[in-house]
Amino acid sequence: MQSDAIKHTYPLEPWCIRETSFDTESHFLDETLFALGNGYIGLRGTHEEGYTGPRGTSLDGTYLNGFYESESIHYPEAAYGLAKTNQFMLNVPNAKGIALWLEDERFDPLQGTLHSYERVLDFRTGVLRRTLQWTSPRGRKVAIESRRLVSFAEKHLFAIEYEVTPLNFSGHIKLVSSIDGEVKNQEAGDDPRVGSAVSGQSLRLVGVEQSPHFSALIQRTANSGFLLVSAAQTDLRGVAEVTQSREFQRMEQIYSVAVMQGEAVRLTKYGCYYSSRDYAEGELLSRAQATLAIAAAKGFRALVVEQEQYLADFWNHADVEISGDDALQQGIRFNEFHLLQSVGRDGRTNISAKGVTGEGYEGHYFWDTEIYIFPFFLYSKPEIAKKLLEYRYAGLPLARERARQMSHAQGALYPWRTIAGVECSAYYPAGTAQYHINADIAYSIKLYVEATGDQDYLLEYGAEIVMETARIWMGIGAYDRQGRYRINEVTGPDEYTALVNNNYYTNAMARMHLDFAAAIAERLAAERPADYRRIAALVRLDENEPAQWRRAAAQMLLPYDEALRIHAQDDSFLDKKVWDFANTPRENYPLLLNYHPMVIYRHQVCKQADVVLALLLLSDQFTLEDKRRDFDYYEAVTTHDSSLSSCIFSIIAAEVGYHGKAYDYFMETARLDLDNTHGNTHYGVHTAAMAGTWMGVAYGFAGMRVVDGKVRFAPALPKQWQHYQFKMHLHGALLQVRVDGERTQYSLLQGDGLAFEHRGQRVELTMAAPVKELA
Ligand code: BGC
Repeated sequence: MQSDAIKHTYPLEPWCIRETSFDTESHFLDETLFALGNGYIGLRGTHEEGYTGPRGTSLDGTYLNGFYESESIHYPEAAYGLAKTNQFMLNVPNAKGIALWLEDERFDPLQGTLHSYERVLDFRTGVLRRTLQWTSPRGRKVAIESRRLVSFAEKHLFAIEYEVTPLNFSGHIKLVSSIDGEVKNQEAGDDPRVGSAVSGQSLRLVGVEQSPHFSALIQRTANSGFLLVSAAQTDLRGVAEVTQSREFQRMEQIYSVAVMQGEAVRLTKYGCYYSSRDYAEGELLSRAQATLAIAAAKGFRALVVEQEQYLADFWNHADVEISGDDALQQGIRFNEFHLLQSVGRDGRTNISAKGVTGEGYEGHYFWDTEIYIFPFFLYSKPEIAKKLLEYRYAGLPLARERARQMSHAQGALYPWRTIAGVECSAYYPAGTAQYHINADIAYSIKLYVEATGDQDYLLEYGAEIVMETARIWMGIGAYDRQGRYRINEVTGPDEYTALVNNNYYTNAMARMHLDFAAAIAERLAAERPADYRRIAALVRLDENEPAQWRRAAAQMLLPYDEALRIHAQDDSFLDKKVWDFANTPRENYPLLLNYHPMVIYRHQVCKQADVVLALLLLSDQFTLEDKRRDFDYYEAVTTHDSSLSSCIFSIIAAEVGYHGKAYDYFMETARLDLDNTHGNTHYGVHTAAMAGTWMGVAYGFAGMRVVDGKVRFAPALPKQWQHYQFKMHLHGALLQVRVDGERTQYSLLQGDGLAFEHRGQRVELTMAAPVKELA
């Protein structure tokens, strides 16, 4: 098994990561970092030829966002209402395989002599390029150059160009293109963050199609019942004889080529995946054939051009430029690139905690989407943000069903973790109990409507979700004898504290949620009576409900400790014993791998930002002094064992003037995966932390806050940087913010005009005066 301490040092380059040695030690990790994806297909960065290194140093995974197998969850001691079915992202057939034989010797970089080796993942072309020179044990020397892409323009497609040049011989080579369906998922073992509990193969062979340059493997998942077609078409430049072979679920096209010394042979492979999650079963094969035929007719170079165009547009909207810190510049672009590679954009899929780069957290979607990842897409690519919201709307019927299972007569309760909408959390104290997921979703809808002004969305979908989810607070809360509204027996964001009464974050977010739901209802009733009647009928809204929501919100109990003058994480948190940090050895972190949950729950110790997150999301409800005191208190008891933590601490540190801390926490987030600081990047990237980097710049250093649709900035420049710059979509305009020394330049790049605040001063940009520079 790969050591947790592995990290790979890449040259600090602004637009790529580059590896210059073939390393078995870091191979598992590199597979994640060099993974390619397009929000649907994910190919780990394993080499086309496979890998013969030591056991446990590779996971040659291929994933399809939203394509899952399901399995029953078995509880030896069951209880009513526990999640019954797990869904997990499957490792699907590996269609990228290309083996190379020089006469009778198989190319393997771990045999013979590797003279040179370089692999580059380029964030502007989206192409993974590998070049090497190698001499076989019997002295045949070749140059190999391969390029791989997963198309951003065509969801179902990936392509590889593989070129071999014999350098010191003429004779025969063989290129074997394969689709390997004998694949299975990684087993989870003791780490809850790793893989799924399933063992063995989930995909069963249904049929195959094979012709000289084409193969398709047709399989069905055993329990979820989906049909999957994995197909590839190959194209070889040169004179070759082609044969086919198949051994159960592994198919090959074998090209035998007569080669001349110094002359290159090029194999191009187009691969695709189609499943019955997207289309009718009868269409899958013909769709695959059509996609591959179109791609082959265009050719690999044309696909690269499409890829570059897509990325040029993406960077044009999403790029964050930082000068003065190359490590950071590389980290932030790497993160944004991986976010784009990970995010589902068809309205039926979302973004999982590890994207499509690995099996950690089983491909599940969490609140990570709404609270961490959503802002990045909302302000950079609002059309993608909207797709994430569409996904939640599609899950509303199942969320209603889940609410009934949880004995709520009304409303909808979203699952803590899921793929297709059912609750998949088998450990309810840190799963289902996190009811804040409902408020998190409502929060993202509010943010979306305020940033885009898209009222149609609210009328069509948003209002229904917000009202249905708000009702759950009325189902689980109650007034106490002093008339305060209490929410008991929930878990807040901090997973080192569970099943508590009045978690500050939950209550404060529930209050926002209830007020938002009531405001929507009141405004519609007053301004759009027909829409109001339609939506009220849809959710069977009682006319008294909005007033009840307002009252519960107004009376919401928000725990505050008068002696410490801080917000209490919940009713009991501050009365617990503080964790003995001084006597906890370094190797006992993360605590979750070394202590029974109850041991952790008995103490004041946080895995991640909880109250501190509320300080960010509900920024205007706190004074700066509140924020500073809360930060100081909770920082001292937080382990940051969750990768979701540091970015939030960085942002609040920046706001309260702790510039050194803001910078350090930010650095931890920005290169969390590149430097493998959590020691588990080999199981997949951490998408929430990646997006947390973007928040760290916009919310943290630039001090951006959006309160009720009004935007304000309070920029500061970390002393390590010369300048930074980012762009944002707001109210239909595109704004560029550039912070340079003491000055900030705001430029309106698109749109008629935009108004916002800069350090309390109103700024208005218009087409006539699109640029303002302020101190
Ligand atoms: C965190 C959760 C998060 C999950 C998936 C856990 O370690 O505590 O807040 O949703 O990881 O990223």
